[in-house]
Amino acid sequence: MSRHKSAKHVTLTTLQDMKQKGEKIACLTAYDACFARILSEAGVEVLLVGDSLGMVLQGHDSTLPVTMTDMIYHTQCVKRGNKGSLLMADLPFMSYASESQTLENAAALMRAGAHIVKLEGGAWIASTTKLLAERGIPVCAHMGLTPQSVNRIGGFHVQGRDTAQAQLIVEEAQLLQSAGANILLLECVPKALARALTESVDIPVIGIGAGPDTTGQIMVLHDVLGVSPITPKFVKNFLAASDNGILGAIEAYVNSVKNKSFPAEEHCFN
Ligand code: KIV
Repeated sequence: MSRHKSAKHVTLTTLQDMKQKGEKIACLTAYDACFARILSEAGVEVLLVGDSLGMVLQGHDSTLPVTMTDMIYHTQCVKRGNKGSLLMADLPFMSYASESQTLENAAALMRAGAHIVKLEGGAWIASTTKLLAERGIPVCAHMGLTPQSVNRIGGFHVQGRDTAQAQLIVEEAQLLQSAGANILLLECVPKALARALTESVDIPVIGIGAGPDTTGQIMVLHDVLGVSPITPKFVKNFLAASDNGILGAIEAYVNSVKNKSFPAEEHCFN
């Protein structure tokens, strides 16, 4: 497959159109300019400067130590390498605890090059989502397993396994859509819940460990390349079978998302 596939400029409208057409959206995390270029040229529609950088780059055991300074620095790096993908950046732990903090920190990420900010939570981030949306800042709401709340949840566990919890997650997704969220990211939930949630909203739903029926998929870059120390069930190492190194692995990931062969049954929670 040739490079420079993603000379197109991906916007929220592009993603919404893809959802309408039933075309899968391929997303990956990126933390530097070099990988940002490779990923966007390989056809990855959304580059996420994730606070997972605290674990994969900095070696922490959670995302909690990540600061706004870290996020601004890596967002600036990814912006320089990006060749037309939508650039999403995480608001890190406790950076959206108050209204003024939220606005100041979201603005800093947008100035650093983000096109959309991501924050974690359910109903409790609805007012924050509305605040940002009303000021012209697009929002991705990260639901299901929310790693910034790992100490409250009690570990990196699958969410929404019982009926009441699953129903609450669907209701919260609808609430966040009404509050102005442009994208939902759904992490580590049973695939039936992910399917029901995706069908219940109009905006794109990007899944990780959420089965094949979401609008798109996201993975942590280091997991795709098989260099993370831990490999959860939903992870696939695409470098292992690549005959064209890193570029081949990224293109295989994009193709597998597009032709719906990833995630397969063995990557899903039931
Ligand atoms: O920070 C991150 O990389 C994420 C992924 C788990 C999608 O939010």
